[in-house]
Amino acid sequence: MTQAAPQNQKPQRNIYIRSIRRDPPDLKLLSKALIALAEDMARRELTPVESPRYDASLFRGTAPFYARYRPHIPTAVTGLIAKQAGLDWSGRMLDVGCGTGQFLVAMSDYFEKLVGLDPDAEMLKEARRAVAKEKLRNKVVLLRGQAPDLPSKYRPYRMITFSRAFHWVDQPATARAALELLEPDGSVAILGDGSFWTGAVNWQRTVRQVVERWLGTERKAGNTTYVEPASRFTDVLRAAGFADIREFRINDDRSWTIESIIGYLYSTSFARRELFGDDVERFEEDLTRALDKEFPDGRFEERARFDILLAKKPATAPRA
Ligand SMILES: C[S@@+](CC[C@H](N)C(=O)[O-])C[C@H]1O[C@@H](n2cnc3c(N)ncnc32)[C@H](O)[C@@H]1O
Repeated sequence: MTQAAPQNQKPQRNIYIRSIRRDPPDLKLLSKALIALAEDMARRELTPVESPRYDASLFRGTAPFYARYRPHIPTAVTGLIAKQAGLDWSGRMLDVGCGTGQFLVAMSDYFEKLVGLDPDAEMLKEARRAVAKEKLRNKVVLLRGQAPDLPSKYRPYRMITFSRAFHWVDQPATARAALELLEPDGSVAILGDGSFWTGAVNWQRTVRQVVERWLGTERKAGNTTYVEPASRFTDVLRAAGFADIREFRINDDRSWTIESIIGYLYSTSFARRELFGDDVERFEEDLTRALDKEFPDGRFEERARFDILLAKKPATAPRA
């Protein structure tokens, strides 16, 4: 509600404009304020990139489970990337499909500025929370948008990353867009650690069987089913013009409980909670019964593996 101006008193208008007319503006101060405003707008996602190509149901309802139950990125993984890519705590990083910000936060020591991009507003909400908790608000910008439309505002990037995310994007177009936005000699990193759907441990097979019993044998992905990437990621990167392509593996030993197994499932696109509808409690009982019966010692261990792909933009490529 606006308050009426007291009678006989002129309402104050155009104060800002009058003061600018009198004294020339301090351009340094003004540009600082504009940059701060732009960053704040970006942080608040006032510049979303909406597109009919994005299926908003892909990760709908998963964000809180993702933040709580997805295993964190081990320091062995971030350390290896930093060493191999020669990171020196300067430059900018763009994390595509940043989700709840796990990888962004894990890499924050290696860059001066980090940009996270994700189309899912709930994921970005969790990411904002993680960024605030780690006191990183001054160096992390979160943007709502989707590959292959990568944000060029903070270009050139020293590194562009896809953590558990490259399989969700249009890979050839995104690789080309990434090459364009990188510094010469900048790097791309693609990494992932599989899931209970692809897991090879016995108890993970049981988990998948129970999920399949409730949701069908085809892996769900938003409004449709999952389609394996058409080409190997190394081939995609090579075709886009990347060089010096190298692959690494890091093991990550994990221990689960029935609660965290269910929480993890609800963080995935193939078993998000909403897919079970009114049957959610019966699904949980069914899964608990199956796991208790087949693994009465209650030990759910796994040696997960992070596959990491690193590649460089050739130093001789045209400047970004
Ligand atoms: C499995 S999560 C990975 C989150 C995070 N990077 C991590 O390592 O935990 C995949 C993320 O990719 C996002 N995503 C899906 N399609 C995308 C696209 N076309 N462009 C950018 N992000 C996308 C999803 O919204 C989701 O947050």
